[in-house]
Amino acid sequence: MLKIKVITLFPDMFQLHTQHLPIKKALESNLIDIEFINLRNYAIDKRGTVDSPAYGGGPGMILRPEPIYNAVTYALGGSKNTYILFLTPRGVTYKQQTAKKLSEAGEVILVCGRYEGIDQRVIDHFKTVYPDNTHELSIGDYVLSGGEVAAMAVIESVVRLIPGAIENQDALTDESFNNNHLEHPQYARPEEWLGNKVPKILISGHHKNIQKWKADKSASIPLKD
Ligand code: 6GU
Repeated sequence: MLKIKVITLFPDMFQLHTQHLPIKKALESNLIDIEFINLRNYAIDKRGTVDSPAYGGGPGMILRPEPIYNAVTYALGGSKNTYILFLTPRGVTYKQQTAKKLSEAGEVILVCGRYEGIDQRVIDHFKTVYPDNTHELSIGDYVLSGGEVAAMAVIESVVRLIPGAIENQDALTDESFNNNHLEHPQYARPEEWLGNKVPKILISGHHKNIQKWKADKSASIPLKD
């Protein structure tokens, strides 16, 4: 069972996501458990303060270190080998390889940034204390308003790799098939649409040639580093 803990100011953003496959089924089958931790509950005062302006100036607000520290410490619950992942556009680009690694982990904490960022000291603190399992992740070279959508991308990509979470498990067990399946173009019915025909080879019934066509069409798109 993979335990996922999401630290966020907006837990309701995840509601619909968890009600759809593959997460819905993974939750029902106890393949995963997801706990949403509202950062607001770890505010520094009764007014719910979690942020403050940036030192050195600049627009927007920065998440203060104390609420993040307290929420992550609660989420860790004494565990030392839990992944602590800070979702920020400054992070290392998230890849399928990382998803695979996380799908085999026991526990993952996802910290969603908001506003203009997270105080770097709290990130560096956990990197110092847990150097092997603390990471800053980005899901691509563009800026989102918060880490929530990024966290959903991470959760979905990880959960579908857990055996039993999706219907077509062949796609998971056969890595090369999985790659091909992802990368070659796909065709459904009808056989001819707006005058455009499905590639002949795919309706030839010639298994070997079809496999070769799929491999050729996949080759140009790298999935791995
Ligand atoms: Cl993880 N967070 C934000 N705010 N923006 C991003 C991102 C994360 N990944 C790409 N852009």
